[in-house]
Amino acid sequence: MIYLDNAATSYPKPRGMVAAMEECILKYCGNPGRSGHSMSMRTGEEVYHARKKVAGLFGISRAERLVFTKNTTEALNMGLKGALRAGDHVITTSMEHNSVLRPLKALEKRGVSQSVIRADREGFIKAADIEKAISRDTRLIAVTAASNVTGTKMPLEEIGELARKRGILFLVDGAQGAGSMEIDVKKMHIDMLAFPGHKGLLGPLGTGALYVSPELRLNHIMEGGTGTDSKNRLQPCEFPEGYEAGTINAPAIIGLGYSADFVKKIGPEVIGKYEEELIGWLDQRLEEMDFVTRYGPDSCRKTGISLINIKGIEAEEVTSILSSRYGIAVRGGFHCAGLAHKTIGTWNEGAVRISVGPFNTRKDMENLADAIWEIGRRQGG
Ligand code: ALA
Repeated sequence: MIYLDNAATSYPKPRGMVAAMEECILKYCGNPGRSGHSMSMRTGEEVYHARKKVAGLFGISRAERLVFTKNTTEALNMGLKGALRAGDHVITTSMEHNSVLRPLKALEKRGVSQSVIRADREGFIKAADIEKAISRDTRLIAVTAASNVTGTKMPLEEIGELARKRGILFLVDGAQGAGSMEIDVKKMHIDMLAFPGHKGLLGPLGTGALYVSPELRLNHIMEGGTGTDSKNRLQPCEFPEGYEAGTINAPAIIGLGYSADFVKKIGPEVIGKYEEELIGWLDQRLEEMDFVTRYGPDSCRKTGISLINIKGIEAEEVTSILSSRYGIAVRGGFHCAGLAHKTIGTWNEGAVRISVGPFNTRKDMENLADAIWEIGRRQGG
């Protein structure tokens, strides 16, 4: 299979990651932070190293402020529901994934109001438009690093600077950018950063994390065992254990530590540049096909995504033909981001999303372009 669905989850994964997980499971996997025996201690130490490696990718100097979660959705729920209170106002954008928009909708019932800034047809947001929506009650700005639909990169540094100047919290959804573009919590004044382990960081599914700045007090959205202060009925507020109630997925986190290191050695910007080249070449080929409509910006202003439709064929059908006839994996439909599709003009039809990763090659792009050419021509394009 030619795998071009890296925005959903990356594939393949580094072999060393599998070896690190296997070693943990087979040789020492005790429950970290729970017991004093050597297996528990060793697992705790390896999780500690993994936390430091992942934190290092985002300029996070206090690794304990990085809470491991099962995915970005959990991290976003933890950040939004933990930080916002009745009376707060939030500014977000029309390019957000449902993992931001749905928790915010649910928070309306708890008295949290929101303004959704509409992006342009290519998915861009202007910091000036965010600034205009700031009111006395604005407590948080929540923005994606890059759209999961078009790949459009947001001006994080500019928005972060604005948030800092106005004393507003800044939350970034790093689901698409983490691992393939620079995200630095200090430089960008990010107070909360949610991201997956299993996409750009090339880690296993079921891993994600939330960074919470040391200045921010976060309410818990889940209580339970932490391995600390066991006689206390109240949930501890210490990071990270107070926010990682219950047994964590230690083998997967240790695997994520390995893959984060792998990404760091190559460099997220180097990976981003490589993906930009692949997508730039593909976009050019697709634009020569008059039966293809392409959405979103040019490759230099987005992550490794190309979003298209073929005239006369539904997105889901294109996806299915690519898989069954050509052995190519892409994602069609609405990508859990209906509002983003509304913004770019594909509310009714959805679109076909092609998303590359660091292991894809120019040959993969050529095969896909040839397949799309054939599908379009058969359709009578
Ligand atoms: N949010 C992921 C995607 O965009 C799953 O496909």
